[in-house]
Amino acid sequence: MERAEIAALKSDMAEEFARYERQERPAGFPALPDLPAGRYTDPDFFALEQKHIWSKSWLFAGHADEFSRPGAYKLWRDAGVPIVLVRGADGVVRGFYNTCRHRGGPLVREAAGEVASLMCKYHCWNYDLEGRLKFVPDEHEFAGLDKSERALIAVKVAQWGNLVFVNLDENAAPLNAFLGPLVPELADLGFARLKFVEKHAFNIASNWKVAMDAFQEVYHLKHIHPQTVDVLLDHRGVAMTLYPNGHSRMITPHRAPQDTPGADPAHEITRTTSRAYSLFPNVITPVSEFEFPLLVFWPTSIRTCRMDVIWFGQPDDCDAATPQWRDRIANFDAILEEDTENLSWIQESLETPGFKSVPLSYQERRIYNHHTQIDRVIGAHRLPEGLAIPDVLGPHLRTD
Ligand code: FES
Ligand SMILES: [Fe+2]
Repeated sequence: MERAEIAALKSDMAEEFARYERQERPAGFPALPDLPAGRYTDPDFFALEQKHIWSKSWLFAGHADEFSRPGAYKLWRDAGVPIVLVRGADGVVRGFYNTCRHRGGPLVREAAGEVASLMCKYHCWNYDLEGRLKFVPDEHEFAGLDKSERALIAVKVAQWGNLVFVNLDENAAPLNAFLGPLVPELADLGFARLKFVEKHAFNIASNWKVAMDAFQEVYHLKHIHPQTVDVLLDHRGVAMTLYPNGHSRMITPHRAPQDTPGADPAHEITRTTSRAYSLFPNVITPVSEFEFPLLVFWPTSIRTCRMDVIWFGQPDDCDAATPQWRDRIANFDAILEEDTENLSWIQESLETPGFKSVPLSYQERRIYNHHTQIDRVIGAHRLPEGLAIPDVLGPHLRTD
C-alpha cells in the first residue's frame, strides 16, 4: 500500500474516533433509506437475482493451483449451470459449458480430474483442450457437418493473479474494469504468488444477502464477538471506502496498534488493523500480510446459502495439515460460528409480519452499497413494486 494511502487511512480512522467521541453523524453523508423486507423474501426478487446477478457478474470460480497442468479440469456449477474449467495445452485456463455440441452429453462427470482431451460421454465426439471439435465417430453419416462450426461454447474466464473468475455474459466488461480501483489497491497482496491451501464450506439457513450483510459491518463486534474479535479490534475507528460496482473496503483499527519494528512499511495498515474487502456480488475477504481466506456466498435457495471458506498462503507455508494451519483454520471457523449463529433466526424473522424493513446506520453503509449494485445489475425498473432502493451513494464512491 502506498505511503499516501496509509497516511490517509490513519487520518480517516482518527477522524472516525473523534466523530464517535462527539456523537455526531458525518456531515454531508446521506441518510440511508430502509431496505424493504421483500428484498430478502420475495420470490420474484429472488428469481431476478438468479437471472441477472449470477449470469452477468464476474464470479470467483477457483484458484490456478486447481489446474496445475494442461488437461487438469474442474466441473464448476456454482453459477447454476455446468461449466468445465480446464487448462489448455497452451497453459491458459478456459471455461466451456459441459455440453457436447451433438446432443448435449457431458464432457466430464467428475468434480475434478485430468484429461488429454474433452471427450463426450455419449457418442464420443472429441474436443481438444481449447474446445475445438477434432473427431466425430462415423462422421460420413452426418450431411455437411462442419467441425469448425461445432466447437464447445466458451464462457469468459479471467485471472486476477492466481484467482480464476468466470462471467457467463459474453458482453461483460473485462474483469479488470469491473474490479477497477481494487486491482492497484490489492496489488500488495500478491495474488499471483499465493498458493491454494484448503477449502471447506458452511451451510447457512438464511438468504445469501443476510449472510453477506453480516460481514460488511463491525457494529456487531461487541455483541457477538465479545471474547474474540472485539478484544482485538475497536469498531469506533472503522474507516470504510465504497467503490463503484458494489465493492467496498473496511479498515478496523486494532485496540492497541503496535507495529513490528523493521517489517515492510507498505504493510503497516495490514498489520495494525483488520483490512477487509467485499467484492460484488459474493466475496468477502479479510486479508492479511501472508495468508488469508476468501469467503464466497452462494444462494442454494431463497432461504438458504452456502459459504465457501477458501484459504491461501505463501509458497513455503501452504500445507493445511501442519499444526499452525489447523489452528489458524479452527480459530477462524470459531469466529465464523459467532458470525453466523443469528442468521437462521433472522431468516425465521424475515418470514413473519414482524419484519418490515431494515434501517441502516452510517456504520452499515457498505451493506447499502452492495444492495444498490444489485438493483443496478437487475435494472431497478424490473424489480417488484416497492422493493427497489434509491441510489444515494453515487457521490460517495471512490473511483481512483
Ligand atoms: S451427445 Fe456428445 S457425442 Fe452425442
Ligand atoms: Fe463478525
